[in-house]
Amino acid sequence: MKRRAGVRNAVGKCVAVPRRKRDARKSLALAIFGARPAFAEQLHVGRPNIGNRGRFLARLNDILDRRWLTNRGQYVIELERRIARLAGARNCILVTNGTIGLELLIRALGLRGEVIVPAFTFVATAHALQWQEITPVFADIDRETHCLDPRSVEAAITPRTTGIIGVHLWGRPCAIDELSSLAGRHKLKLMFDAAHAFGCSHGGRMIGSFGEAEVFSFHATKIMHTFEGGAIVTNNDDLAEKLRLMQNFGFQGYDKVVYLGINGKMSEVSAAMGLTNLESLDEVIERNRANYRAYAKHLAELPGVKLFPYDDRHRSNYQYVVALVGDDAPLTRDELVTVLHTENVMARRYFYPGLHRMEPYRTYFPDAHRLLPRTEQVCREVLILPTGTSVTGNNVARICAVIRTAIEHAVPVRERLLRQGPPTP
Ligand SMILES: Cc1ncc(COP(=O)(O)O)c(C=O)c1O
Repeated sequence: MKRRAGVRNAVGKCVAVPRRKRDARKSLALAIFGARPAFAEQLHVGRPNIGNRGRFLARLNDILDRRWLTNRGQYVIELERRIARLAGARNCILVTNGTIGLELLIRALGLRGEVIVPAFTFVATAHALQWQEITPVFADIDRETHCLDPRSVEAAITPRTTGIIGVHLWGRPCAIDELSSLAGRHKLKLMFDAAHAFGCSHGGRMIGSFGEAEVFSFHATKIMHTFEGGAIVTNNDDLAEKLRLMQNFGFQGYDKVVYLGINGKMSEVSAAMGLTNLESLDEVIERNRANYRAYAKHLAELPGVKLFPYDDRHRSNYQYVVALVGDDAPLTRDELVTVLHTENVMARRYFYPGLHRMEPYRTYFPDAHRLLPRTEQVCREVLILPTGTSVTGNNVARICAVIRTAIEHAVPVRERLLRQGPPTP
């Protein structure tokens, strides 16, 4: 008796694969079926932007000639001035990286006990609290914005709560007005993790001047970077003064230490890269916007797959192209990731599986997922696609052709993946 091949579809039902379709897969131009990968070299999410190499090298030579390498040299001072102006804030303190920026700010604000954060963010948001023995309490997100849902935040407030950290995920501003009034009513400090949101706005006002203070990351993969680095921006002069002391061991002058501090200073070479990057920021945003539009065009009307929309009321840096692979899609998000990796498209599942499922939080709060249904859903759906200055319109068209082919031939694709073994991510 002849055996019939069968695969399970996205909702787990067993589907027989007709012989015609099994034969058709031979002609599918996908690397999982043995075709040449769509890209000869790996295409990454967040490949660094370099800016004008000549200008960077000139600055580097100048730094070496003057032998002033760190400790608030002229490049750091200049970059702080430009960032403060761009973010519409009175003060900017450049720091070693965004995580140190969060830690310094959390400490300077006197947060303790419990602080409410999303579980759908990069792990540093919660680690910056836990590192200082403050308990991160996870609130759920809004599915439309992927940012904190103020109702879930309010439900998480206890007598031990001292603050809220909103995260402007994907550069999209979180519910700033609602969170501000919530913080005011409950006498909580409100700060923002703006790691993704450099160059973005909330309505007509730039991200950088909301809450007590906001923290940018200038990690190499960010739209504007300083190799490693970050910045705290605030309109509160007293807070800025305190942060400057804390960032430099508590030194106030040569021999006078007036505060418990740490080393959170940015070096001159990092600031030189930041200044160089800043000069091409508009071009980079334009490239990202063009890529985003190309993805939107090529992925239109694909069943179960859509792009996370940017809100036109706000300025965005389009730094992330976020595709959402719904439960109704013919392939799961993880299956698509495997298909794309085989084509050398290194798509990523940010911020899977959610902070509440990572250590140490998983052990501390084993039941947190019950209170975070929308976080759980979004963790299953998000697929980050490559963009940035190293990705061209033709690259985008080819990536989308892979996704379309895989989705349109979901049954043989799944059958092949099942035979191939566990997924790569
Ligand atoms: C949302 C978020 N918060 C914090 C950080 C930490 O920034 P850094 O890598 O500069 O320490 C990152 C980034 O990498 C991030 O994406």
